[in-house]
Amino acid sequence: MTKKPTGSKPTLAESRAQHQRLGAEIAEHDRRYHGEDAPTISDAAYDELRRRYSALEAAFPELADAESANRKVGAAPSEKFAKVRHAVPMLSLGNIFADEEVEEFCARVRRFLGMPVDAPLAMAAEPKIDGLSCNLRYENGELVRAATRGDGFEGEDVTANVRTIRAIPNRLDGAPRIFEARGEIYMRHADFEALNARQAEAGKPIYANPRNFAAGSLRQLDPRITASRPLAFFAYAWGEVSEPFATTQLGAIHAMQRFGLPTNPLTRLCRTAGEMLAHYRTIEAERANLGYDIDGVVYKVDDLALQQRLGFVSRSPRWAVAHKFPAERATTVLEGIEIQVGRTGALTPVAKLKPVTVGGVVVQNATLHNEDEIARKDVRIGDTVVVQRAGDVIPQILEVVLDKRPAGAEPYVFPHVCPVCGSAALREIDEKTGVADVVRRCTGHLVCAAQAVEGLKHFCSRNAFDIEGLGDKQIELFFKEGLIRTPADIFTLSARDGKGRQPLREWEGFGETSVSNLFDAIDARRTIALNRFLFALGIRHVGETNARRLARHYGEWGSFRAAARAPNAAEELGAVEGIGPVVAETIADFFAEERNEAVLDALMKEITVEPMAAIAAGHPLAGKTIVFTGSLEKMTRDEAKAMAERLGAKVSGSISAKTDLVVAGPGAGSKLTTAREHGVETIDEEEWIRRSAAG
Ligand code: IVH
Repeated sequence: MTKKPTGSKPTLAESRAQHQRLGAEIAEHDRRYHGEDAPTISDAAYDELRRRYSALEAAFPELADAESANRKVGAAPSEKFAKVRHAVPMLSLGNIFADEEVEEFCARVRRFLGMPVDAPLAMAAEPKIDGLSCNLRYENGELVRAATRGDGFEGEDVTANVRTIRAIPNRLDGAPRIFEARGEIYMRHADFEALNARQAEAGKPIYANPRNFAAGSLRQLDPRITASRPLAFFAYAWGEVSEPFATTQLGAIHAMQRFGLPTNPLTRLCRTAGEMLAHYRTIEAERANLGYDIDGVVYKVDDLALQQRLGFVSRSPRWAVAHKFPAERATTVLEGIEIQVGRTGALTPVAKLKPVTVGGVVVQNATLHNEDEIARKDVRIGDTVVVQRAGDVIPQILEVVLDKRPAGAEPYVFPHVCPVCGSAALREIDEKTGVADVVRRCTGHLVCAAQAVEGLKHFCSRNAFDIEGLGDKQIELFFKEGLIRTPADIFTLSARDGKGRQPLREWEGFGETSVSNLFDAIDARRTIALNRFLFALGIRHVGETNARRLARHYGEWGSFRAAARAPNAAEELGAVEGIGPVVAETIADFFAEERNEAVLDALMKEITVEPMAAIAAGHPLAGKTIVFTGSLEKMTRDEAKAMAERLGAKVSGSISAKTDLVVAGPGAGSKLTTAREHGVETIDEEEWIRRSAAG
């Protein structure tokens, strides 16, 4: 922040000029954000512009004329769609950032209403969904018009598109004759990632975040495209209504739920600023697990009669405020691009950044996705870039700030050899389509140290051999020291310890206990279920699901290995339910490789692979897709998962139309609502134990 020297208060003329400049800047960013779904600055930077703008108006009220950006919301509607004038304007929310401002907000409301400072004042608190707001007009229960917010007064008619969104009912049950529901259209992370991957495969542009994807999907001129995009919706407000339908904010939310509209399950009634903050913390803590983007918490005076009395000031209501999370986007300098080599040889470009705080976390690395993405964004070393960190995911580079490109910055040339082993790195051509894979891969396989180390990490990981104490750091160290080169070496580690070199317990960071714990942990995993074993091998395309399919089909390691080594292996494997030709071919290639066979022979001397006979094919849960959510009290999540797998069920992390059963423990949040939305059967832990024991 820059401080003005004391005594030099700006004049009205100076402030007017600055006000105009900031206003133009804000208008341009509004246009990019709302009109093009392509913002070019971080939300934090935008909020800062707004703050400076409002501060000028506070100092010189004459600046706040009818043209003030504070009286406008969003951008004027684009030309593609018919315009709709909102019966009741769709306004915006004021923002607060600091904890103290929650108390200030409550005090402001009480003061305005002439209430004593300690008078009770209930507030509804709910997540602020990062999507795009929409007005849904129902007449006699039928959806007659859907419109985007636009500039707050006039939006775009997106009725045809909204009718294709399954989450939005075309009919309401029991709503007033005229009822305008307002809420946020958004896209869930899982859908966003899957669709973006599909876009990339089809050579179409990918979207930077779910919000932009949702906006782009809603603004399709062809409703069939919108129909193919899984958009979701939460109702949290209303516009014109023919008769009162609730007396409180929470009552209104419940009423909308009864009418058939999806509402957010994290909506709570808070009686004090302390409770509001506590709920803010709860939502913040849940943020990464929600499966969709939120950017803060909205507090609303619960009593609708009080809301009415409080009314609006310029573009936002006095009765509500958005408590934003710390910014999750920031700009910084790209100092270099490092190419990492993964287990399957994929070369992944990682941005090395000048450290920057994004959403309270210092970020130094960010993904650049792949070669094509670098080219598409024209990212160059030395560029100033916009970094985004959403929830738990790896930070990513959204774009380059071109104005700040240093003179002489050269386009980035992606390497064509593996930076670790020097083997050629190629982009495979899809034989059918003739399209090159987006991923460039090292062809060095086992001679490539990077692939070997990553393979070992995968082998020991949680859903594979799950060896406690043998994490990424230890594996890297043991590999570097030559102690572990192939999976079999893990199991001979204790027998070789101290022979010809310093024993492990004398290594820095290792003690007597930790070494003996490590050896115990390794021994505990000498027996492994076939599906886990197949997954552990790290064969490309053989993830948990395919490993389970193969394990179920072949039942035991011997039969599987024989099939995979047969001359017609690809054909034979391709006949397994759910295994496609590409997967079958990859597995056949893996087993045709002499070096892999040698690695397996050595490994089989050390371990036992359990046949799947233990899996009762006839169990009622066999073949079912189960989701666990909330906390379990009698067993850990991993235990429950293993149990389900043993019974032949599939465990999934997210609820979809394919889910058969949800096991919900205390604290199950949004997944329960999703389950209800999908009409999925939900049971508690006790019932789970009963059912898994039966049959
Ligand atoms: S209430 C008159 N509640 O945030 C106030 N808005 O920055 C109406 N938003 O335009 C808005 N989640 O697009 C409200 N739970 C929520 C919200 C929410 C997201 C959006 C909405 C609004 C913008 C204001």
